[in-house]
Amino acid sequence: MTPTESSSSRPAVVPQPVAGPLTRSAIFLVVTVKRGPAHRAAVRDLGADLSALIRSVGFREIDGSLSCVMGIGSEAWDHLFGSPRPAELHPFREIRAEGRVAMATPGDLLFHIRANRMDLCFELETQILNRLGGAVTPVDEVQGFRYFDSRDIIGFVDGTENPKGQAAIDAVLIGDEDPTYVSGSYVIVQKYLHDLVTWNKIPVEQQERIVGRTKLSDIELDGSVKPTSAHNALTTIVEDGKEIKILRDNMPFGHAARGEFGTYFIGYSRSPRTIEKMLQNMFVGNPPGNYDRLLDVSQAVTGNLFFVPTATFLDGLGDSP
Ligand code: HEM
Repeated sequence: MTPTESSSSRPAVVPQPVAGPLTRSAIFLVVTVKRGPAHRAAVRDLGADLSALIRSVGFREIDGSLSCVMGIGSEAWDHLFGSPRPAELHPFREIRAEGRVAMATPGDLLFHIRANRMDLCFELETQILNRLGGAVTPVDEVQGFRYFDSRDIIGFVDGTENPKGQAAIDAVLIGDEDPTYVSGSYVIVQKYLHDLVTWNKIPVEQQERIVGRTKLSDIELDGSVKPTSAHNALTTIVEDGKEIKILRDNMPFGHAARGEFGTYFIGYSRSPRTIEKMLQNMFVGNPPGNYDRLLDVSQAVTGNLFFVPTATFLDGLGDSP
């Protein structure tokens, strides 16, 4: 049975659009929630109304593919919903190794808003924040754009090895391992800033060995030339002979006039352990010291882990106290 199918003993639940289509634009909004019953009620009401808001804004441009995923952080979960907790929800685990830091930063809610036009993303974000009013404090807001042939700002095509179709659904949606939260998901986000001046001085052949793929044609390097420290080697996780996939929708962002060039990393997975293992390999190295050389030119300035309940769960918030 796939995670979205129903059985006679369990009603069908509708997941949030974590495996939604790639879009040309996105907004990544992270907010903290103020404590107290009125703020709690405002967030729950927004959750209940989110699908209606997306319909209202999205219908104004039918080809716009507007979607939004709402994630909830570990502490906020207790405040907003109490028990039962999603089985693997915990705060983002910071990693420090030889000056490389995957830092944990504040964040109670994530809104991952995607559309083919930024105006749709912007309008939905505005409506969401209007609804939340004084209940939240925005802590990070990034507008991402699709860059040429789906390249990231360091010039490599990003997203090629993402799972597709049913494989994507199997990678991101919780199954019977957490019966209360079947079809939920976990999402980890990190905002990276790149030293593009240094990166662009590195010869292309060396950049390709850092990423593990050719730059222009996006072909995976042959095992005979690909180092074990390549980004795509360290982020390949194999358990019991089977590769465990995640679903990424990274977006470039930046302010050229300020010299700010970044990648917003976003990875969905049915268990946070997979992405945590990737981060461990990248920052500490596998074996330790054999770390991801992308980190010599990239600094993670945020880090959060959120649980993504189903759309059915959010819709139902209007019915309960
Ligand atoms: C510094 C920010 C990052 C950049 C610029 C970046 C860029 C890339 C590029 C260019 C690829 C190769 C094409 C593809 O298959 O998508 C890739 C692959 C991948 N990246 Fe990243 N990435 C970043 C951070 C991360 C992080 C933080 C993770 C997970 C913790 C991650 C996980 C992966 C995975 C799973 C793959 C596919 C590996 C494979 O199956 O071949 N990336 N990334």
